[in-house]
Amino acid sequence: METMKRTATCGALRKEDTGTSVILNGWVHRNRNHGGIHFINLRDRYGTTQIVIDQDAEEALRQQAELLKFEYCIAVRGVVRERPDTMKNPAMATGDIEVAASEIEVLSTCKTLPFMIDEESDAKEDLRLAYRYLDLRSEGMQRRIRLRHEFTFAVREYLSREGFYEIETPTLIKSTPEGARDFLVPSRVQPGKFYALPQSPQLFKQILMVSGFDKYFQIARCYRDEDARGDRQLEFTQIDIEMSFVSREDVFRVTEGMFGHVFEKTLAMDLPAAFRRITYADAMNTYGSDKPDLRFDLPIVSFDAFAQKSSFNAFTGALESGGCVKALVAPGCAGYSRKLITELEAAARIYKAKGMAWMKVAAEGFEGGVSKFFNDSFDDITSALNASEGDLIVMVADSWLITCNALGAVRNKLGHDLGLADPKRFEFCWIIDFPLFEYQEEEGRWAAAHHMFSMPQARYLDTMEADPGSVKGDLYDLVLNGYEVASGSIRIHDPEIQKRIFRIVGFSEEEAEERFGFLLNAFSYGPPPHGGIAPGLDRMLMIISEQTSIKEVIAFPKNSVGVSPMDDSPSVVDAVQLKDLHISLDLPDTTETD
Ligand code: AMO
Repeated sequence: METMKRTATCGALRKEDTGTSVILNGWVHRNRNHGGIHFINLRDRYGTTQIVIDQDAEEALRQQAELLKFEYCIAVRGVVRERPDTMKNPAMATGDIEVAASEIEVLSTCKTLPFMIDEESDAKEDLRLAYRYLDLRSEGMQRRIRLRHEFTFAVREYLSREGFYEIETPTLIKSTPEGARDFLVPSRVQPGKFYALPQSPQLFKQILMVSGFDKYFQIARCYRDEDARGDRQLEFTQIDIEMSFVSREDVFRVTEGMFGHVFEKTLAMDLPAAFRRITYADAMNTYGSDKPDLRFDLPIVSFDAFAQKSSFNAFTGALESGGCVKALVAPGCAGYSRKLITELEAAARIYKAKGMAWMKVAAEGFEGGVSKFFNDSFDDITSALNASEGDLIVMVADSWLITCNALGAVRNKLGHDLGLADPKRFEFCWIIDFPLFEYQEEEGRWAAAHHMFSMPQARYLDTMEADPGSVKGDLYDLVLNGYEVASGSIRIHDPEIQKRIFRIVGFSEEEAEERFGFLLNAFSYGPPPHGGIAPGLDRMLMIISEQTSIKEVIAFPKNSVGVSPMDDSPSVVDAVQLKDLHISLDLPDTTETD
């Protein structure tokens, strides 16, 4: 028997189609029997159409309708008719019409569902992932996967128009340290040797510059063996970009232009032609973060001068040991209970602050907490902090970094708790002038803050070895609503500078040669000056679709322990496969690791 092939989709029919004979194919979303009339909501990717089997329809058809269960895949033949005015549904694109069915064919049946389609929030995450094919049928997932497609399409459109080539780079590459742990792939033909999956196409895109492809991009899969978090996956996608003969300004212009185009195409939203720029030091001092959420103000203010004059030992002690004291005004929060204040303090403690001091602003003076130490300077403090009656002032005293990070966390919590973080607002900013190196306390050495191929700013070239901590790099991050959505830099194309960087981060010449010899070698054949950037596609989509988990924008993500419950990867492999690869397993006692 020939199946009934669709003549229209479930989202297409309108009042103007009244009287037309159609065939629809789709899934049974709902099937209700109202006083002998069957109403079936038939759904596909394009929408939902109401199918009606009237009371006076043939008995066989009515019986068939009775048997249709959730998610049966069916074909329906019928005639489009306008719904009576009282039955119209303005919330549905097809809400003015219905299809009066004359024939139904069941294309396939469906077992009892593990969860209802569209009731995604009720289903446990692993259950959703195990039955991802059903979860992907939900309206939310369908919308986000479409957005993802439109987004990447607009990226390709813009960059192609700007003269960029899309070039693929290998996903089986040499293991080169890039920050996270590599995923390794054993080679069968080269026993004992391993490929790594790329953490990013970084080295290859730089080599493409040496080859003269002066504008490159790639929608690139990246792999990092790190702990999954809300905004991270083991396997994710970057919009990887590299350009030759450019300065930071050119990279900014292309990135701003690209997101301007993409936001216009996908969200019908205008972005500013250029994004705000904030130095790393200012971002840390004012927002307590190198990825500040600029949807709200809540600035952090130095409290050093008042701490200095006070007799509060915790504050004066912090200053004496080279630290600082900073304050943040929580507007209208003087009514906060001890419990709420403790919750704010908990946010500060996550970032290693030993505690968080507080006081409330009343009409005549400070009240509660550490108020007795500061009441003498009431007017000066309230005017310096721009605080007024009814506000809560919170303070942290510690090393500069801990103080900034801790108050940054409190600031973010307040922004969310006070409802200031509007998910429909998109506030981009560039963070510039990052330090090139950061000191690894535990290992007692300097490491690259971004990666080892970023250029030091020219004015630090002479003093780089003497004082690595003060060197600022020609590197930048793009931040959106409190998330780092991209990072990049102007690269080193001078092998001598590159060698100096390797030396500072403790890479011996042999080790550098062994790991990156191919890049250094390429750089001895006329490398152009170059730079680039890599926005994280998934993270960006998560933010613009107002989600807090990156899994919501990826068709087949891994769960928080790196497992895909649908296909059950990672899995054990055949002994023969291991033998072919000359691999023997030495597993820890599972009772301990579980
Ligand atoms: P970086 O490591 O900062 O830079 O990554 C660039 C952007 O990729 C996204 N991202 C992630 N998204 C999801 N899950 C992850 N585990 C994950 N890790 C990173 C972030 C981040 O801003 N080669 C350099 C870029 C360059 O210099 O051109 C790089 O990979 O949005």
